[in-house]
Amino acid sequence: MGEQITIALTKGRIEKETLALLERADFNMSFMADKGRNLIFESPDGQFRFLLVKAPDVTTYVHHGVADMGVVGKDVLIEHPAGFLEMLDLNFGLCKFSVASVPTYNPSDHKRKRIATKYPRVAMEHFKQKGEDVEIISIQGSVEIAPVLGLADAIVDIVETGNTLVANGLVVFEDICRISSRLIVNNASIKNKPQVLTFIKKLEDIVGNEEVPFR
Ligand code: PRP
Repeated sequence: MGEQITIALTKGRIEKETLALLERADFNMSFMADKGRNLIFESPDGQFRFLLVKAPDVTTYVHHGVADMGVVGKDVLIEHPAGFLEMLDLNFGLCKFSVASVPTYNPSDHKRKRIATKYPRVAMEHFKQKGEDVEIISIQGSVEIAPVLGLADAIVDIVETGNTLVANGLVVFEDICRISSRLIVNNASIKNKPQVLTFIKKLEDIVGNEEVPFR
């Protein structure tokens, strides 16, 4: 048996799909079925250890080498781009970054816009590419209410079903990019631990040839 491999998984939304993918890749994940409040899980054969952490922390654990690999959304990788290798598009957790606002928002208005977002880097980059200097207002969640209450002119946020936008009376003005879950890998682990490459190959065989739709 080789050295144990540690994999950081994003808690919440994409957790179920991540475990389903691992099952499809022939890993018996039943040891994570009754997880209770546990956050660290070791496979019965001792070969793997899985951590359940918040999305941005997946990049931190992989960057520092505490985890050899991680599964996390591309949204987080764009916002926190450094310190790991992005190896695979896992093609689930599909959503997009969009600019949205109340229907009366005028995107071609020349005044300096205020943009509320949980993703300041993504928002700044997007408007910079369009040659627009905007004021970014950082928000931790429930971003959709910011334009409704006049805190911002528009938002940059994740849209999955679009239900949250509709429920708050917002419409999409622009799509920025597609988002999906990715497999990231620690720079040293890929060189030093042969099981890491074997693991990547196993997942690649499953996700490699699937179509990658944009919506
Ligand atoms: C995300 C995102 C939107 C919503 C989009 O928020 O920021 O608010 O999901 O999903 P939908 O298009 O399917 O409605 P999340 O649920 O993570 O909560 P938050 O607002 O507290 O960040």
